[in-house]
Amino acid sequence: MTMGLSRFFRSAFNAIRNREKALPGTLLEEHVRSLLARRDEFLRGASEFGTPQYFFDEPGLSLSLARFEEAFSGRLKRFRLFYAVKSNSFPGISRHVVEKGHGLDVSSGRELSMALSLGCRRILFSGPGKTDDEIRAAVTHRDRVTLLLDSRGELERLSKILLAAGPSDGVVRVGIRITGKHHGKWEKFGVPLEDLGPLFQKAMSTPGVDPQGIQFHTSWNLNPEAQVRMIKAVGSYVRKSLPESAWQRLRFLDIGGGYWQERGEWLNPRNTLLGHLLRAFDPDREFTLRHYYRPSKPIAHFAGEISEAIAGEGRPLRDLEIWMEPGRWISTPSMHILLRVVDKKSDDVVITDGGINLLGWERPLEEFIPVINLTRPSVREIPMRIFGSLCTPLDIWGDSLFGEGASPGDILLIPDQGAYTYSLRQSFIKPIARVIRFDGSSLSEAEPEKGHEETDRL
Ligand SMILES: Cc1ncc(COP(=O)(O)O)c(C=O)c1O
Repeated sequence: MTMGLSRFFRSAFNAIRNREKALPGTLLEEHVRSLLARRDEFLRGASEFGTPQYFFDEPGLSLSLARFEEAFSGRLKRFRLFYAVKSNSFPGISRHVVEKGHGLDVSSGRELSMALSLGCRRILFSGPGKTDDEIRAAVTHRDRVTLLLDSRGELERLSKILLAAGPSDGVVRVGIRITGKHHGKWEKFGVPLEDLGPLFQKAMSTPGVDPQGIQFHTSWNLNPEAQVRMIKAVGSYVRKSLPESAWQRLRFLDIGGGYWQERGEWLNPRNTLLGHLLRAFDPDREFTLRHYYRPSKPIAHFAGEISEAIAGEGRPLRDLEIWMEPGRWISTPSMHILLRVVDKKSDDVVITDGGINLLGWERPLEEFIPVINLTRPSVREIPMRIFGSLCTPLDIWGDSLFGEGASPGDILLIPDQGAYTYSLRQSFIKPIARVIRFDGSSLSEAEPEKGHEETDRL
């Protein structure tokens, strides 16, 4: 083998080895202990309101919101938070965010109506393919909405809608979403950076439209590298290619969401790079009970790097308001799922009363989620196949359990299921579960969302 080839194989092997690390046992145990410390609250929720249920953890939400805000407001002079409703559209979460004085980031007419009904005064409307009706709704509520334009076509449709509406008080505040070169398939979103200048100028000359900002969003950020890269690209473009007249109009830079939770990304072996390779050769391969993770940086680190990057860009970026649209960082700890074991097939196979229609996707196949038996608690992990009750073998919560075994009637906790689950929930075979609100002391059943009323609880 030539030196070149052996170097190639060595670096490929290192890439595979270094991509995911074994999840440190101490990290996992600490996490399970912290959840078990709240065992009584969860058990009370299950006994008073039944299972399956979404347990809306308002203290968990309050803490994540406060920590995110603290990290950034300590570093940035002018900073605004807009919670990304899509990450969990339960109105109780958005209500809490609004009551704390923050804004909402919505991506559809439906989310916009919810934000308006909660009395939210600061709404961002972003997303590709907005319909005319959605643009019209944003125009009607222009006093509260900033419309983030996704394309030249959207600006043209906005202009026609404004013309058809005739003269009115107040302009429509807009921002322009850009996409970066490294965004790959994300070309679906926004316009290329090099098109920002002409589009911004077109918006400046469109009657009734007030362009005020620039938006980008990067996803799945275990560290702030992608955000910093985009900030530098935008800073340099704006300095070199936006005319002074456009600088005068700029009020905000919206750097989107995508902050990964501090615990890192927890994975099942099948979802590691090596696992994918092994499955390519043997799709039915059974994996061991090992857990892996991709570490992520604490939010204070994101705040430090992002604020430094903005300051480093000088004018005009450093003088703008910095807007953010965090979703999963805020919503992950704000909702858990409570299930009951209804059947035991063998010593290590149980069926629960809730299926993954509660999540809306096969998340437990990809991600490692510790399932905790609240009735027989333990920090010891034992092998146990925990299925839901849907008629598909993919309906599985996990291959292990933290507990002293499991029996029918036991209450299981699926923790930290606030992000991209409730919003994707499905009424598939079983009805949609109710949401129980825990406000730190008392429990109450939340009103079902419009269109999701389920009376059949059998
Ligand atoms: C424009 C925009 N902003 C914010 C978010 C929220 O991202 P996250 O939940 O990863 O913070 C998303 C998610 O897709 C998004 O598309």
